[in-house]
Amino acid sequence: TDTVITLNNGVTIPQLGLGVFQTPDGEATSQAVTWALQAGYRHIDTAMIYGNEQSVGEGLRRSGVDRRDVFLTTKLWNDDIRAGRAKEAFKESLDRLGVDYLDLYLIHWPAKGWQQAWEDMEELYTQRRVRAIGVCNFQKHHLDELHTISDTKPAVDQIESSPQFVNGDLIDYCHGTLRVDVEAYSPLGGTGGSLLADPRLKAMAERYDRSPAQIVLRWHLQRGVIVIPKSTHKERIEQNAQVFDFELSDEDMKAITAMNRDERTGADPDNFNF
Ligand code: A2P
Repeated sequence: TDTVITLNNGVTIPQLGLGVFQTPDGEATSQAVTWALQAGYRHIDTAMIYGNEQSVGEGLRRSGVDRRDVFLTTKLWNDDIRAGRAKEAFKESLDRLGVDYLDLYLIHWPAKGWQQAWEDMEELYTQRRVRAIGVCNFQKHHLDELHTISDTKPAVDQIESSPQFVNGDLIDYCHGTLRVDVEAYSPLGGTGGSLLADPRLKAMAERYDRSPAQIVLRWHLQRGVIVIPKSTHKERIEQNAQVFDFELSDEDMKAITAMNRDERTGADPDNFNF
């Protein structure tokens, strides 16, 4: 069903994945993961701080899909970055997930001490305990600093991007000069957002006989961005995967990009306090 992208270290990643931010630990998460895998998803994105790694692992095992066929991402939390606990935290995440390697391990935020965390993650990568390493919420200046201190390129930068916060300059910088792939979080405008009710998206959705969510996901895919929509509902999880059998026109792509309001729903990576 879905296409893959080849990261800058040669590893392939399915361009669409299931995100589980704010999916409650326990049955809700296990079910969402199982539904997604049964609907053809092969990419799950969690984080230590989401508190649901154990349930992600449970859902993975319950689905019957081979772990090796699933691209699994988790993230190193800020407290562990500040405490210099990257390697310990990595092991703890593996244990909670019930797996013996990760596909992608990410620095969750550029918290104080991330440079040391990156060195530790490079070691995990060299030891082949993780197939790729990367960052989240890195701005241009963080990426530039990373480039000066390390020979290992991040495979991805996971950043907020949606039609209301396009983040176009950073995406262009990643795709252009750096050759770093971008993963979009809050791709549908985030939890509790009103983006999907926008009349312009609704009108476009009617023209394509799709839902507004499918239109927005298609916009991400056609920009070459990796996208990880979240839902706890089976029919939405399934619907969000049905985005590989239609194409938006250039004009509609531009119209969606022009909806940009430069409004984040998440925290500012240059000014966060957690
Ligand atoms: P829910 O989990 O109740 O389905 P994000 O931009 O972070 O991926 O946020 C997606 C938000 O939009 C979630 O709150 C999710 O809520 C909702 N959502 C996900 N898929 C769809 C869909 N296909 N149609 C409508 N709402 C959706």
